[in-house]
Amino acid sequence: MRHLYWGPRLPRVEDLVAGEIWPLSSNDLAEDLTPEEYPIHGGFRYGETCLSVRFPDGSREVRAVVDGMAVEDEGVVVALRDGRGVGVELHYWVLPELDLIERWAVVANTGEEPLAVAEAASAGLHISRRNLILHNVAGHWAAEQQGFTQRIGPGKVVLEARRGISTHHHNPYVVLDDDATENTGDVWFAALAWSGNFRAVVEQRQFADTRVILGWNPWDSEITLAPRDRLTTPTVVAGYSDAGLAAMSHRLHDYGNALLDPRPRPVLYNSWEATEFAVDLDGQLELARRAARIGVELFVIDDGWFGRRDSIDDGLGDWWVSPGKFPDGLTPLIDHVRGLGMEFGIWLEPEMVSPASDLYAAHPDWIYRDPGVAPDTARGQYVLDLTRADVQAHLFEVLDRLLTENDIAYLKWDANRPMSAVGVDRDVQRRHIAAVYDLVGRLKAAHPGILVEACASGGGRIDFGALRVFDDVWTSDNTDAADRLVIQRGYSLVYPAKAMRSWITDVPNFLTQRSIPLDFRARVAMCGSLGIGSDLSTCDDGELESLAAHVATFLRLRPVIHDGRQFRLGDPNDDYRFVGYVSRDARHAVLFAFLLPGRLGQRSPHVRLSGLDPDTVYDFTINGVADRRSGTWLAHHGVDVWLQGDYASALVEFTAVD
Ligand code: DGJ
Repeated sequence: MRHLYWGPRLPRVEDLVAGEIWPLSSNDLAEDLTPEEYPIHGGFRYGETCLSVRFPDGSREVRAVVDGMAVEDEGVVVALRDGRGVGVELHYWVLPELDLIERWAVVANTGEEPLAVAEAASAGLHISRRNLILHNVAGHWAAEQQGFTQRIGPGKVVLEARRGISTHHHNPYVVLDDDATENTGDVWFAALAWSGNFRAVVEQRQFADTRVILGWNPWDSEITLAPRDRLTTPTVVAGYSDAGLAAMSHRLHDYGNALLDPRPRPVLYNSWEATEFAVDLDGQLELARRAARIGVELFVIDDGWFGRRDSIDDGLGDWWVSPGKFPDGLTPLIDHVRGLGMEFGIWLEPEMVSPASDLYAAHPDWIYRDPGVAPDTARGQYVLDLTRADVQAHLFEVLDRLLTENDIAYLKWDANRPMSAVGVDRDVQRRHIAAVYDLVGRLKAAHPGILVEACASGGGRIDFGALRVFDDVWTSDNTDAADRLVIQRGYSLVYPAKAMRSWITDVPNFLTQRSIPLDFRARVAMCGSLGIGSDLSTCDDGELESLAAHVATFLRLRPVIHDGRQFRLGDPNDDYRFVGYVSRDARHAVLFAFLLPGRLGQRSPHVRLSGLDPDTVYDFTINGVADRRSGTWLAHHGVDVWLQGDYASALVEFTAVD
């Protein structure tokens, strides 16, 4: 099945002509030249494929033909069939308001014997251009989401995850542009809704075009389909922008927000950086008192409240309240928090078990194990085999009880190690993630209203698959505000601010040892879903009042930041960094300005605003001077936010004059 076109909306459908494709030579045959929608291994196909299977007799050759098409609502399904027992449905679902398309595939075993599926991608995509610029992120723990670009030339670039659980390293999307900027130029993009192993291949072919394959990672994987079984791949959301990267991000942000629970994300306090494992009732009561005083809406107790958990080496899996730390259970703390007008949230790491735990002692067979080697620990823990029905049942029962017995509104769901030596079954990595989605979904159904944060050692679970099930993501354990500017900019290319948890924490920062002023730290944290992670017990009245003022500012601006449009402004390599948010009606805008340690005592560049109404006049105050300009002036001339001193910052509001 041939791909014909991907670009701006065509004025005439007659343009879509499937002309003959002539072989170039006996070495470049038509099958290889054809930009296929879903290339399947076999015949004269030498490029990357979406599907490859092994029949019971060992054959891997598939000869699929189109076997029908159905149009339903906003969707189209095309069926492909191979006479020897493979059926494929290609699903296309149009989202007209977002100008996006969702794609996924269903692979069916239509034969009488088991079918081995070596590879089943979600979609193949084609762009009739070459030498495009690829955007993605690179990084590692505490350095996630660092945006990079790379020009594609002949050959392939592969971005992937192989760790099963975490994706700190790259993210499951492909953005390709033809020399676009934030506001101009052609951009093609596709993102995979999957939180586990993925592979994105960008292949510039010999035929002056570019093919993208996006889906589960076939690395060390084989899925067995029993007769009549169907395998549904995760969804890819794809689109095209003729107005640069910002327009792409806005549509993807809208897509992400539409997946999320519509309620505002509460300002939270999280005790992790303050206490680490040393939690106890008195300490938490005091932190809660102070959190309420600064306007926090949700108090979250992090790691250390359960089992015999005093360090990374013990307790995971024992989700009973530590009697030493909380002699009367969590009720006194929860009652106190609720009495202070806040909701209560709690940290869990359900997919893991510590060797030193009651759970592991009772069920040593419940972890992923390779028969040939001893299981590895990382951060002192094993990964539970979530593909087992008994493990799934146990986790649901334990977590359901915890939520039933306690007034809990928020779960922080952590996962702090990758998978390794998972055993002989080469399909557990996929099934593990499916089990996580299922478990979170069932807990939410049983406890309507709870919000669940996806965390995996910081930002290891940021993708549209996570946003379908979870409600926000922990962006990074790196809470240094200067580093966060980089991480948050990378995140913003695809994912919405509402889901991005960002905390104000203490200085010197535990990781970078930098001491950045509170205003800067608070304004960086306000660019997403605000949290406070400082040790409030050591804050004096002045610091608490400053925090309270920042929380109040955020609560006032939250609708613009979360429901408006976000703009990456200025030059990301400048000493000055800018982020803007504009309400949907363009009556209200917020500009965050940050100055990193200046290299040349740099005077502010004029920052030009985006998203304002050209004919509307806006009031604003910069450096204490009230001003009034049209949207046209602000977009074309810009404003001069002059900051002085390392880590100076400003927050400028623009309000439409009636
Ligand atoms: C890793 C998370 O990213 C942190 O925020 C914290 O929850 C720790 N785990 C707790 O062990």
